[in-house]
Amino acid sequence: MEYRRIGRAGARVSVLSYGSWITYGNQLDTKASLELMAAARDYGVNFFDNAEVYASGKSEELMGAALKKLKWDRLTYLVSTKFFWGLPAKFGDGVNEKNTLNRKYLLNAIDHSLARLQLDYVDIAYCHRPDPNTPLEETVFAMHDIVTRGKAVYWGTSEWSAADILAAWQIADKHHLHKPIVEQPEYNLFHRHRVEKEYARVYDEAGTGLTTWSPLASGLLTGKYAKGIPSDSRGALKNTAWMRDALTDKEKNAAVAKLGKIAKSLGATTAQLAIAWCAKNPRVSTVITGASRVSQVHENMKALALIPKLSSDILAEMDAITASLAD
Ligand SMILES: NC(=O)c1ccc[n+]([C@@H]2O[C@H](COP(=O)([O-])OP(=O)(O)OC[C@H]3O[C@@H](n4cnc5c(N)ncnc54)[C@H](OP(=O)(O)O)[C@@H]3O)[C@@H](O)[C@H]2O)c1
Repeated sequence: MEYRRIGRAGARVSVLSYGSWITYGNQLDTKASLELMAAARDYGVNFFDNAEVYASGKSEELMGAALKKLKWDRLTYLVSTKFFWGLPAKFGDGVNEKNTLNRKYLLNAIDHSLARLQLDYVDIAYCHRPDPNTPLEETVFAMHDIVTRGKAVYWGTSEWSAADILAAWQIADKHHLHKPIVEQPEYNLFHRHRVEKEYARVYDEAGTGLTTWSPLASGLLTGKYAKGIPSDSRGALKNTAWMRDALTDKEKNAAVAKLGKIAKSLGATTAQLAIAWCAKNPRVSTVITGASRVSQVHENMKALALIPKLSSDILAEMDAITASLAD
């Protein structure tokens, strides 16, 4: 495994990591959740991504139960969680605990996440989306307080604009607060503008690292959706109807078939090629992979060996196939 610094921060994360979105609490039970984390760890994965909203808190509970059983030394792995959407309100309409980054919500949410994860602290607490209705200063001070109270080691953002990331960084700089060290954006062969263009100035000005998500565009970049939606795939789940059009897009699936030929010529699978392509970008600290079964972890982690094989000629070929379809 290769380990990269998270931007300017000192801690290093495995260049391939593992996250629990959709799988934990929907497809995977307690036993399977543990098995997939253990399989990833066997390849040297040291970063496990989660969020309060995943399966309405169940995903954190499953990861927490797995970590308790696995008994890994806490110094040897990083866990993250994210806040914004909140959980189903226990009382009333949840006016202060939904779609927000207000101070009251954030300071409560971290405690509840830590309880579900059975951890004393998380390594990264993310603001899962920007909140235009809370002053940025309030959010930055709240995230700083979460860090100074020892409940998170670092904090970061997810799917924030370059302007908002820089504004938050500047507020923290001005007041000598803990700065956001990392952004978590979607990044794959079909979704690359933000990472490659919009954030260009963020890397140098704020030293932001990237923990990128959906390297396979939810599975599209494996080639499995070429003939429709397999019954045992993410696209067939009850709650994923919203992504079916994207997964079965004809032009994108035709491009994926062409990528498959490149992968084959390198002795790899299409999924491995797509994951290695993300990791090839040196701005990327870690590519957060997802998997619904152990065999996928094995396949995806072997993408590591492919990274050095992606020559500039091969990257240009991949660009020619996908660039016109990417946003
Ligand atoms: N910050 C954010 O807003 C945000 C948003 C989304 C995700 N994330 C993070 O990023 C992580 C990864 O995202 P993702 O799960 O969307 O990643 P992805 O790699 O795009 O998709 C993973 C899914 O693709 C399928 N798959 C994976 N490897 C495969 C293989 N080798 N062959 C065939 N199918 C394969 C599996 O689904 P099936 O087997 O069920 O088809 C798996 O669950 C998440 O777990 C989460 O931690 C963050």
